[in-house]
Amino acid sequence: MDTRDAFAERIFKAAVATFDLYGIYLGDRLGLYRVLADRGPSTSAELAEAAGINERYAREWLEHQAASGILAVDEDWRFSLPPGHDEVLLDETSLNFSTSLAQSAVACVRPIDEVVGAFRSGDGLTFDGYGVDGRLSQARSTRPMFENLLGSEWLPAVPEVHARLTADPLARVADVACGSGWSSISIARAYPKVSVDGIDLDEASIEDARRSLAGSGVEERVRFHNLDAADASFAHRFDLVTIFEALHDMPRPVDVLRTIRGMLADGGSVLIADERTEDSFTAPSTDRERLYYGFSILACLPSGMVGPDAAGTGTVMRAETLRHYATQAGFSGVDVLPIENDAWRFYLLRP
Ligand SMILES: C[S@@+](CC[C@H](N)C(=O)[O-])C[C@H]1O[C@@H](n2cnc3c(N)ncnc32)[C@H](O)[C@@H]1O
Repeated sequence: MDTRDAFAERIFKAAVATFDLYGIYLGDRLGLYRVLADRGPSTSAELAEAAGINERYAREWLEHQAASGILAVDEDWRFSLPPGHDEVLLDETSLNFSTSLAQSAVACVRPIDEVVGAFRSGDGLTFDGYGVDGRLSQARSTRPMFENLLGSEWLPAVPEVHARLTADPLARVADVACGSGWSSISIARAYPKVSVDGIDLDEASIEDARRSLAGSGVEERVRFHNLDAADASFAHRFDLVTIFEALHDMPRPVDVLRTIRGMLADGGSVLIADERTEDSFTAPSTDRERLYYGFSILACLPSGMVGPDAAGTGTVMRAETLRHYATQAGFSGVDVLPIENDAWRFYLLRP
């Protein structure tokens, strides 16, 4: 029974790894890693005092963390962050920041009874159903990419887009499904001559975006709107429309793309980034594709099932599916851009 034993062992290891994530969630939410980074090696009493938590809970959490190799412990029973772990756990600007993954794993199961119900009824769940953890984990996972790569690598890698964003007259950008707004702010920072309108259906995300905008230095050129992109009708035209990691979540992706096509100025472009899926279904598949399916069964598919005639795309939107949506929306073609990124694939839609 080699396969039975190997499978049982695999599930056991998955449970161990799941509790790594929950432990990281607690450390993040209670500010415990921050205290350890600020104070250096600490006992459970010192951590509890500085973080304002109960000592017994602090001790159990520290022991779990050290037993799991997330924290180090010395002979004086002081716990600390090993070199490199601080960046992964605490540096929200780093491309290695991974605490957001633990937070999204928790967010995905917050509405678990509703998800179970949705599997039976075929209904969907809106983004706000995943609560503050859903919203924050999304923003925290994509913000480092927007701040480090969007304006310095991704947009400059698309010559016609880069040329328009640096030319006169001032270019107008619509950042559709902008979430907490870091993509819109990053575009405005990278291109001093553009104005950006960020649009999102989720009211709390737009409120977060407006808070992030305050003091960002680009307040004059960025505006956020709480709108459904499928219905959004702006009086003005846009030179660039972007959709980052959101088309697969939309119940009506073709309607959104059709609306966007109508918003384009002459020579305008549509840039879409979405999950870098395999070209076709494979089983067993890569870890990344398994992760995408994990998000899909709990969050992205339910998001894409909201309302009548919902597309129900799911996280694993293949390039072929996007081409199909674009064609249905009236675009003449889709180019896959040669931008290297492990997480996302980039598409330029031809009007
Ligand atoms: C996975 S999040 C991505 C957010 C952001 N672009 C990012 O990369 O962090 C998906 C976003 O799509 C938004 N969304 C879904 N359907 C939408 C629609 N029809 N119009 C506007 N926003 C929509 C959700 O509210 C959510 O903020």
